[in-house]
Amino acid sequence: MHEIYKVLSSSLHIPVALSSRSHSWVTEESLHSQKVATHYNKLQECGLAERNKSRIVHMRNFNNWLKSVLIAEILDKVKERRREVTVLDLGCGKGGDLLKWKKGRIDKLVCADIAAVSIEQCQQRYNDMRRRGHPNDRTFSAQFITADCSRELLSGKLRDPELRFDVCSCQFVCHYSFESEQQADTMLRNACERLRPGGFFIGTTPDAYEMVKRLEASDSNSFGNEVFRVSFQKKGVYPLFGCQYDFSLEGVVNVPEFLVYFPLFEEMAKKYNMRLVYKKTFKEFFEEKVKDEKNKVLMQWMQALEQYPPDERGQLASDSPGEYDHAKRIAANPAARRPLGTLSKSEWEATSIYLVYVFEKMS
Ligand SMILES: C[S@@+](CC[C@H](N)C(=O)[O-])C[C@H]1O[C@@H](n2cnc3c(N)ncnc32)[C@H](O)[C@@H]1O
Repeated sequence: MHEIYKVLSSSLHIPVALSSRSHSWVTEESLHSQKVATHYNKLQECGLAERNKSRIVHMRNFNNWLKSVLIAEILDKVKERRREVTVLDLGCGKGGDLLKWKKGRIDKLVCADIAAVSIEQCQQRYNDMRRRGHPNDRTFSAQFITADCSRELLSGKLRDPELRFDVCSCQFVCHYSFESEQQADTMLRNACERLRPGGFFIGTTPDAYEMVKRLEASDSNSFGNEVFRVSFQKKGVYPLFGCQYDFSLEGVVNVPEFLVYFPLFEEMAKKYNMRLVYKKTFKEFFEEKVKDEKNKVLMQWMQALEQYPPDERGQLASDSPGEYDHAKRIAANPAARRPLGTLSKSEWEATSIYLVYVFEKMS
């Protein structure tokens, strides 16, 4: 039996009447989709200078490093077998991963997102990237689709109706679709149905096990710290679909998300002939990948960790007591190579909620 299943099954309550609600445009569920689109459409594209001032800049860089490593490794694997690589970026947002696709020298990209403004910005970013590139630089071709991928099928919207993907990347997205079984299934269908045999479905999502563990340990209906907070309506009952929670980051409440119970996700993916080949928490992924010198160099280059102690002109991201005790302890050891690279305790607690997964399409 799957490890996580053993731990969680006792606390998860199997819901009744999962798909009895109607799916027309006036349901509560579709209202939620509109909220997701409105929320992401309103998010301002802030410049590099602004981003660097953020309390959680290193955590954002860390997440970006993790996606870079995951994407690079999968593309290397695909290229062992294929000369031309086609990718679906499902829930692409404003195109935060475009440079990773360029670096990975892919040939075709389809970007899809529910938020029309994000898709416009993504397309603009792609156009800028092409314009800025060296004339000999080969940039992949791209199509941009605005669609609620938990309700609409992407197949009918592709410019090339015969298109097949080698990779589908779904970064920090799937948890929005676990509002209902039907929505989660449609999202999975979009992710997997056009993958070639041997193709990969990769992504990142909050880990239900970690979330429930922290919630149960808290003496209220929420847990968090100075950078993030997760609030549930109640404890003790965790339906497989529609288990809603609010996630706020740096004090800003995000749109509601839904718990993704991973063993269920894995089971549902089997319908599309997908086999789980890799699943790690962010912590495990970091510990495994940082051993590779190339990933370590990338980590420094992306400033995915904060320097501790900071240099004379520098300042730590937080001056709250206890945020760097772990680093202080290690730095006190005369044998330790200083400066260290670290994340503040609060950022680490926030990012270590997530997990990474890789599925492979069977023939
Ligand atoms: C946290 S952002 C991640 C963006 C991007 N994948 C990244 O890693 O930078 C989540 C994205 O999922 C998109 N999204 C949420 N629900 C969606 C749905 N049902 N269909 C398509 N996109 C969706 C949001 O609009 C948003 O752009």
